[in-house]
Formats: sequence, C-alpha cells, structure tokens
Amino acid sequence: MIVRGSTAVPGDKSLTHRALMLSAIARGESSIEGALTSLDARSTARVLRGVGVSISRLRSGERIRIRAPRALHAPNRVLDCGNSGTTARLGLGLLAAQPFSAILNGDRSLRRRPMRRVAEPLRAMGATIATPEGDGLPVLVRGGRLAPIRWELPVSSAQLKGAILFAALAGGVEASLREPAGRSRDHTERLFRGFGFSVTEAEDGWLHFEPNGALVPSAFRIPGDISSAAFLLGAAALADRGELRLTGVGVNPTRTAGLDVMARMGVAVVREARQDWGGEPVADLVASPGRLRATVVPAQEIPGLIDEIPLLAVLAARAEGTTVFHQVGELRVKESDRLALLARNLTTLGVEARAGENTLTVTGTDRPPCGRVVTEGDHRIAMAFAVLGGVSGAAVEVDDLACADVSFPGFLQVLSRVRQVGS
Ligand code: S3P
Repeated sequence: MIVRGSTAVPGDKSLTHRALMLSAIARGESSIEGALTSLDARSTARVLRGVGVSISRLRSGERIRIRAPRALHAPNRVLDCGNSGTTARLGLGLLAAQPFSAILNGDRSLRRRPMRRVAEPLRAMGATIATPEGDGLPVLVRGGRLAPIRWELPVSSAQLKGAILFAALAGGVEASLREPAGRSRDHTERLFRGFGFSVTEAEDGWLHFEPNGALVPSAFRIPGDISSAAFLLGAAALADRGELRLTGVGVNPTRTAGLDVMARMGVAVVREARQDWGGEPVADLVASPGRLRATVVPAQEIPGLIDEIPLLAVLAARAEGTTVFHQVGELRVKESDRLALLARNLTTLGVEARAGENTLTVTGTDRPPCGRVVTEGDHRIAMAFAVLGGVSGAAVEVDDLACADVSFPGFLQVLSRVRQVGS
C-alpha cells in the first residue's frame, strides 16, 4: 500500500467548541472560519441555541455566524450534549454563571462519564449543581453570582480546567487552579489572552486568571485538528511507500506529544509552512512510512496525547518490541472504556496487548491483523482500527465506522483517497 497526496483535515474540535462558547457570550455578531462541523460541534451549537444564541447551520467549508443575545436565557427543554464531553463540561462552566436553571443530558456514552469533578469546583464558586447518584448525566445546574476560586484539579484535564475558566470569565471572578501531572491543552488560556485577560502560570504550576479583559465579538480562524490528523499520519506510517502532506494543522505544543512519540517509534513527521493563527501555531505535516520500534510513554506525556492513544496503540501493534503507556486510567472514562477496548480489540486481531489498572502494554507483530473490532460507538477506536486494517494482508472488520462522524466527517473517504491499496 502506498500513501500520496495532500489534504486538509477537519477543524480543531477543542477550538471549535471554545470559539462557539465565547461567541455565545460576546454580545454581538461573531464568525468562525474553518470550524469543525461534526456531530460534536453540532452538539455545542444545539446547546447554545437552547439558551438563546442564534447560530447559522454548521456546514463544512462555510463560515459559521453567531449572534449572541444581550443575555442568555433559560432553556425550555433539556439541553442535549449528544456524545460530547467538552460540550457538557464547558457548558456547565458557562451555565454556572447564568441566573437560571438548566438540565444537561447526553447519549448513553456521555451519561456514564464523570461530571462530579466539574460540579465540585463550580459548587465551590457558588453554583447549585445536582448530579445523579453515582455521577454522570443528567445534571441540573442553577447558576448565579459566583465567587473567586482556588482549586487543585484531581486530574490533568482541559475540559475541567476549561469549565472553571469559563465560569470565572462569565462570572467576572478570579480563578487559580493547578493540574497534578503534565499540562493539558491550553486553548482556553490562549483564547482568553487574545481578549486581553490575564492568564499567568507560576513556577509552582498555579494558573491564575483575572477578569480584566473585554470579551468582544470576533472573527475566529480554526486550524486543522491534530487529533484527526493523527489517524492519517498513522496511515502514512503503516504504508509501504509514499508521502502524505496534511495542510494547516494546529501544532500547539500542548497537543503535539503524539508527534514526539511517533518520532521515537521511527515515524518521521516534518513540519513545514509554519504560521500563527490567532495565537495558535499551525503547520503542514509531512509524513512517510518508517520501520516502527516500541517505546515507553511516561505519565507526564499523557495529557499532551490523550486523544492519540488509540492510534499510537495500533502503531505499537506493528512496532518491534513492547510499548508501554503509563498512567492512562483516564482512558476508561472517555467515549468508551478505551483502555479495555484497545486491549480487547488488539487481542482479537492477534496482537499481544494488556490493559492494567493504569497502563496499556502492546507487543508488536508483523502477522497481518485479522478479526472483528468492537467500537461501542467510539469514534477514535473506529478510526484507529480502520487505519490498522489497511496494512498488507489484513482482514479487519470494524463494527461501526459511521461513528467517526463525531469528530471527522468523511474520514473513510479521505483515508481511501490518500491510500492506494495493492501498489
Ligand atoms: C478536550 C480535552 C480532552 C480530550 C477531549 C477534548 C477539550 O479531555 O480528550 O477530546 O477540548 O478540552 P479531558 O480534558 O477530559 O482530558
């Protein structure tokens, strides 16, 4: 199989959610160019429309227009976050500062994901939040006047950090927070700084936000999502020959640990045409196949590649030696129990893989993978195994490929365009 050509990837998911939410409270008309228009992005748009924001239809290649009302208003129905954890968590932060009640719910996968870790700091700021016994959704939030907060996060999570920062921004109060190990993606901090707010990080890891800027309607420009790009980079890495260029991909340093790991595994990804889009570094990524070798991924790298682990695990399945991912317990509370599903599916395909409580171990083989993959509707599991299914001699059936639409609409078409089987 060879890879070839050049393609853009869908807009960054994290930045699209955040740009939509900021636009929702920046009184006036904002626009977003290059936004992700996938199911997850639509979930955030749906929730925001439910509290009075007017948002044009999300269509690929079209600029989104957002008109924020004078003030958000109480929804007249349950706000449905679909499959999107970022919608639910950042949404809770935003709603914590609004003087009305709202109920957030989601699909079966989202309903089982932890929300208490977000509810606790928001309660400490003064919001009333009712979570179900045993955690998850639906959650009722009644916002109002908020107080400043100082909070140590139990896990490094950009959604949790973002929820607190969005509440502080919308409530006009200071917030100080600290993540335990490794720094999660810093898109919220960069966006807030773009509006003149002070977000500083002390040497001891404490991040401090001051509500001293001004949120005004803006024109956002969103780069390609490196977490979506990763699947195509993986396809290039596993090809026999060729070269693949991905244009305009966000390479924020808190998101690129996956590229570091790929480099250690023998995959060359070159960054070209570097630019800066509104405070976010962007580059073209050029990837070619390599002889893969195993690596060790330590705890402090995990927050910077959390969404890339499914793809890295399938690369590990083709690498020489045993790859170990440390401190990956968070994978158990993603769109599926990714830790268990990765180990189970790799094993089914004839790869030696083991999920510990907090670690994932994968021993590579050059035997072709054969068997049926269970995705439980998890987009990243589906895409990772679709990539592995492209290696010579493979016979991999993925039970649900449509779920890729959660973050990468048209993934299979793009994958088959850049891959040429049998060459
Ligand atoms: C995201 C943060 C990450 C990531 C998710 C998007 C964000 O989740 O897995 O896809 O936009 O803040 P955690 O913050 O739970 O690690």
